[in-house]
Amino acid sequence: MNPARTPRFIQRHVADAAAERAEIERGLRRLPAQAAPKYFYDKLGSHLFEAITELPEYYPTRTEAAIFAAHGAAMAQHIGAGATLVDLGAGNCAKAARLFPLLEPRRYVAVDISVDYLHDALRRVQREHPALEVVGLGLDFSSALELPDDVTDGRTVFFYPGSSIGNFAPDEALAFLRRVHARASAGGLLIGVDLVKPAHILEAAYDDALGVTAAFNLNILRQINRLIDSDFDPAQWQHVGLYDAARSRIEMHLQARADVRVRWPGGSRVFEAGERLHTENSCKYTVKGFANLLEQAGFDAPLHWTDPKGWFAVFWARAR
Ligand code: AVJ
Repeated sequence: MNPARTPRFIQRHVADAAAERAEIERGLRRLPAQAAPKYFYDKLGSHLFEAITELPEYYPTRTEAAIFAAHGAAMAQHIGAGATLVDLGAGNCAKAARLFPLLEPRRYVAVDISVDYLHDALRRVQREHPALEVVGLGLDFSSALELPDDVTDGRTVFFYPGSSIGNFAPDEALAFLRRVHARASAGGLLIGVDLVKPAHILEAAYDDALGVTAAFNLNILRQINRLIDSDFDPAQWQHVGLYDAARSRIEMHLQARADVRVRWPGGSRVFEAGERLHTENSCKYTVKGFANLLEQAGFDAPLHWTDPKGWFAVFWARAR
C-alpha cells in the first residue's frame, strides 16, 4: 500500500527586519509620506480584510465568486486538466480548492509570503484530495517569481484572483505579468481583475458605512509601530478612500486630524493637520485595457468572463 501523501513545504523568503525598518522609515520621510499595503496584513489586518469581503459595499469578492460559479466549467474547458496550478497569494486556499473539481490539477502549489500561513489549509487540501501533489511555497512573489524548477516542470497554470494585481501600478503590473508569462510555458494565467465603474460605487466599496475599511487602513499604524517602534496614535488619523478617475485607481490615505509628531528611534516626522500618509492604490482596468496588458506581456489574446453588471472580470490568458 502507498503511504498517504503529505504536503511539501519550502520557505524561500527570509524576512529582513533591518531592511524592512529602513524601507518603512524612508516611506514616512517622503513627501507625501507613504507605506506599502503589504503591512496591512498582520493577524488582525487579515481578519479585517476578511470582514471587508462580507460588506454589502465591497462587491469584488462575491462578484468574482459568482463569475467562477457561472463560468468555471467553461474556463476549465479552455485550461485543460492535469496541470500544475500555482496559486499566488493563496492564504486559506479556498478559492483554488473550489476550482479543483473543474480544473483537476495534477499538482497544487500554494504561494504566500510565509509557509506558516499555509500549513493548516494545505493539510486540509491534502486530506480532501489524497492523490493531488501539494506544495506550500513561502515566497515574496511581488519582487521575483523564483519558483523551484521541480515544482513547475510540465504545464503550469498560474491563478491570481481577487484583483490583487490592482496594488501594482500599471507599469509594475506589466513587469509582473511578463515574469508570470516567462514561467507559464504551455499553460497560462487565470486572473481576476476589478473593472472601471462609476466613482460612487468604487468609493463606497473603499469607505463603507460600518467603518471596517477605515479600521483596516488604520491598523497599518499599529503594524508600523510594531516594526519600527514608532508612536502613531490611530485616534489622530482619519481614513480617506478616493477614486482618481484620471488614473483609474482607488487611493487610500490616512489623514492627520490635527498637527501630529510621530517619533521612532533615530527619527521623527511632523504631519500638519490635513497632511496624508498614502497607504494603498487599487488600480481598475477596462476589459480592453487589461487584455492589452496581457498581450504586451506576451500572452495570447485572452478570453474573459464578467458578471451581468460588468463590474469584475476573470481572464484566461494562454502562454505558448
Ligand atoms: C486585496 C488588494 C484586492 O484593492 O480591493 C480592500 C485590498 N483595500 N479594501 C483591494 C483592499 C481596501 C484589496 N486587494
